[in-house]
Amino acid sequence: MATSSTADARLVHESGHESGHESGHESGHIAAGASIAERHEQARRLLHGGAIDEGLTILRGLVAVAPRSVQLRRHLALALHRSGRHTEALTALVDATDAHPREVSLLEDVAALAQRLDDRVTVASIRRRLVAIEPSPRRWQQLATACRRAGDVDGERDAMVGWAAADPGDPIAAHLAAARSGRSLERASASYVTRLFDDYADAFDDHLTELGYRAPSVVAASLARALDGGVAATACDLGCGTGALGTLVRPVVGWLVGVDLSSRMLERAGTRGYDRLVQADLVDFLAGHTSSFDALLSADTLIYLGDLVPVFAAARAAMTRSRPGVFVFTLERDDTAATADVGFRLGRSGRFVHDESYVLDELAAAGFAECRATHEILRHEGHDPVHGLVVTART
Ligand SMILES: C[S@@+](CC[C@H](N)C(=O)[O-])C[C@H]1O[C@@H](n2cnc3c(N)ncnc32)[C@H](O)[C@@H]1O
Repeated sequence: MATSSTADARLVHESGHESGHESGHESGHIAAGASIAERHEQARRLLHGGAIDEGLTILRGLVAVAPRSVQLRRHLALALHRSGRHTEALTALVDATDAHPREVSLLEDVAALAQRLDDRVTVASIRRRLVAIEPSPRRWQQLATACRRAGDVDGERDAMVGWAAADPGDPIAAHLAAARSGRSLERASASYVTRLFDDYADAFDDHLTELGYRAPSVVAASLARALDGGVAATACDLGCGTGALGTLVRPVVGWLVGVDLSSRMLERAGTRGYDRLVQADLVDFLAGHTSSFDALLSADTLIYLGDLVPVFAAARAAMTRSRPGVFVFTLERDDTAATADVGFRLGRSGRFVHDESYVLDELAAAGFAECRATHEILRHEGHDPVHGLVVTART
């Protein structure tokens, strides 16, 4: 068993010695009249020398006579943990919190040990107690994570709402509180997208490979089909991220621009075949580039926009007027019909799902022709497939 872990390190707060003499409660191993400190020292020596059961017996006896000693309870829990009696160790620490219900470092020890033992329900219940003592944004966030891991959907939602209230300026908290509460938005804020993907950029490519991510390859394949052996003179990758799509479409595109809100994602796209990279919101970028592109492409990005009417209007205006053009993108598909009234909804994941007929109708209303959608699995989330729409429209 590891003895240098955070949980162990936190459990070892054994500086100083207990003082005072106890009488009348000695176990058979302890000399009558010995002080708690002497008995504790004896337990230490026994444990150190490998006499685990004897050392534990003394420690248990000491905890019985000095039940408010956090130091003794921590030592007992550590000794139990090191001897493989994990559940008893956790119980010893939880019992200690009854004596010291507001001792933050002790509650942290319990949470750390419960986490190591994968006791998710205990982690969540301790995190709830910590929030009650210190209702800071960090504590609410930790509670939300613990509830999610424990499968407590309502608890996670309440913690997200608490986190957003504790830090009203945090875009992640605000967005996820809306998502978990079933509240819809028109779109994800630029500050949410930027923070999310700046933080995610380093891990993005490896993570998506693990999830069997296919959005760039299905967009590239649809573009190749639409071009039918031809080449698009100018193209823009909307939400290019780390540039996976750029690499794939480069052979069939004359001049390629990548647009993204996240500077950290763009840094990674830099080496992947774009002629120009622009840090901007994609709707603003399109609005500033009328009659500029033969192909507009977007893989796994319009899922951060709920209402697609402004995107489609700006996209239609950005297509070159003098030549036919093509717009290819992916979305996540709603299988529940819950979007039927407005055509989109913010999912619990924080991404939007869209109704297929809403998408095709709004594309046509914006002036696109031959609007079609196919169904594809875009990646997996845990063991669940993410069902997507791959949409092609022409001008
Ligand atoms: C899931 S990633 C996909 C990246 C890339 N298309 C791919 O398939 O690997 C979504 C990307 O869209 C960007 N994004 C989301 N909303 C955006 C917006 N409104 N304007 C520009 N970029 C946006 C994010 O910063 C992120 O890099």
